[in-house]
Amino acid sequence: MAGISDEDIQKVREASDLVALFGERVPVRQRGRDFWCCCPFHNEKTPSCKIDPSTQLWHCFGCGEGGDVFGFVMKIDDVSFPDAVRMLADRAHIDIKEAGGRGVSNSRKARLREVCATTRDFYHSQLMRGKSSEAAAAREYLGGRDLGGAVPKKWQLGFAPGRMSLVRHLSSAGFNAEEMIAANVALSGDGGKLRDRFFNRVMFPINDPQGECIAFGGRVIGSGEPKYLNSQETPLFHKSNVLYGLDKAKSALTSTGIAIIVEGYTDVIALHESGIENAVATLGTALTLQHIRLISRYASKRIVYLFDGDAAGQRAADRALEFIDNSMTPEAGKTRIELCAVTLPDDLDPADFVAQRGGDALRALVNDAKPLLSYGIERRLARYDLSSAEGRTRALSDALSVLAPIKTSLLATDYAVQLSGRLQMREQDVVDALALVSPPRKYDNDEQAERQTRRTSHITLSESEKSRRKFERRLVSLLAQNPHMALEHADALAQTQWHDQANEKLAGIVLDTLEKKPDATAAQIVAAASEIAPRAAGALTSTSFSENENPQHAISFLVEELEIGDIESTLASMNSQLKSDPSLTPEDRELIFTAMVDLQKTVNAKRAAHKMSF
Ligand code: UTP
Ligand code: MN
Repeated sequence: MAGISDEDIQKVREASDLVALFGERVPVRQRGRDFWCCCPFHNEKTPSCKIDPSTQLWHCFGCGEGGDVFGFVMKIDDVSFPDAVRMLADRAHIDIKEAGGRGVSNSRKARLREVCATTRDFYHSQLMRGKSSEAAAAREYLGGRDLGGAVPKKWQLGFAPGRMSLVRHLSSAGFNAEEMIAANVALSGDGGKLRDRFFNRVMFPINDPQGECIAFGGRVIGSGEPKYLNSQETPLFHKSNVLYGLDKAKSALTSTGIAIIVEGYTDVIALHESGIENAVATLGTALTLQHIRLISRYASKRIVYLFDGDAAGQRAADRALEFIDNSMTPEAGKTRIELCAVTLPDDLDPADFVAQRGGDALRALVNDAKPLLSYGIERRLARYDLSSAEGRTRALSDALSVLAPIKTSLLATDYAVQLSGRLQMREQDVVDALALVSPPRKYDNDEQAERQTRRTSHITLSESEKSRRKFERRLVSLLAQNPHMALEHADALAQTQWHDQANEKLAGIVLDTLEKKPDATAAQIVAAASEIAPRAAGALTSTSFSENENPQHAISFLVEELEIGDIESTLASMNSQLKSDPSLTPEDRELIFTAMVDLQKTVNAKRAAHKMSF
């Protein structure tokens, strides 16, 4: 974990008080052993969020969120796990040691910045004045792409000759091998010999928002693989929170309130050069929430995501739909983010588009960008033949799944109504169907399980099935919160025929964690689970013992209840086999019948014991 040790994490965990942290954000009141407040993550008037001071876990019974102290800080401040640890460490005045990353001292970072600046200047002078035929080819290449003239100077473009020329230059400027490697402009090759990382490429310096160079992207001249070679993560450079061109776009972002996000370095340059100066690019990665937060510091009105018309652009568009969440609904109030999207036509990228059709055409396209929600729905509808009833039905469930994360919002209902028009269906039917879609679960990439839950979520479960699933959920959640009791039930859990795959998965995570670390605390288990399955924290904190309950008994009761349920299902299927399988011989019947009698006795005995202990 980004160089923070488990020991430090544990120290910070122990020094943090969840009740106090909640108390800083919302009024908290004690009720019995626990503390309660109105959930800071959704709107409510009566408190349904519980904080358990003994396990240091929290859970909201209104929205289902929950977790440990780090999960709370990550959610409320929208920060990564390491940042949450750092923030809580600061509060508690705990010094955490970090290998690499943020723990790097400022003077060290300043030194690496100097490596980058010196490298940038060296590459730039090679491009402008290099005498080799390769340097000339680089100049010609840029000129041929409309990136000549004043462009190389303004964007500090460069040329990397390779062949140790950068290493030699940096050495003579007083930098050592370790610094060059840490800044990722040199590599240690065979036999520890230092060599340039970039060779015969056009170089795009990547700057932080203040305009200081922190990394590079290098493009092959003409064609070749890889097309772009980028700096790897360094103490200065974390690509999931850096945007190319932000230093130059800042003032336009603030004055227009609008940001345009494109995919490529050359797209940013082409847009700026045609007068559209509020464009930035991700660095060959998907857009992250960190990017969005970074941009919204400057652009307060709208973020327009411009996708290339090619297949890769379309994949990026589908990934972006994962950003749909409650921050986009009117209920989010001031914190609402308006994220819009548009795909460029005819396989073009933004640079091609402005070259062929001009800046005004691009501005018009950006103005027409649709909110990410409508954009997503249109993309889904486009996959089906809407002239057939079957196509429309399938389109409906696909389109509704886009709305699932915000289905309780008024906005989702608006969209459902619009959808009913498009699909020639009754409004009420579509609104009802919306209520049934389950939010996309991001437990893992297990598509099978995903499809399974989607299917079952449309079927109403019988009362007994519902209570079975509730028992399962209650059991895994109690075990996670009382880990010292979990291992003794490991065998029973392994034999349970889980009705809900999510519960099965959660039980597996709890046991796996304990196997690796038998003295893990409740908070550690919840944290481990949420690393594997983001929604696990909510599920595992969802129940607790009531005040007068004996934990040992409550857990044994549930384990046995599930066991009895499993035997009863076996009995039921044996019974239906006896009734409906004509191929059974009399001996078979005899055998099955005897087995059933035995099983029934077991059930009766278990039930009797069960009753006695309560
Ligand atoms: P594109 O292939 O669209 O690049 O990839 P581009 O900027 O339009 O390149 P030109 O116009 O052919 O020169 C978009 C972005 O994806 C990343 C780069 O950040 C690039 O700008 N990328 C692409 C890589 O990191 N590596 C690659 O091999 C290709
Ligand atoms: Mn391109």
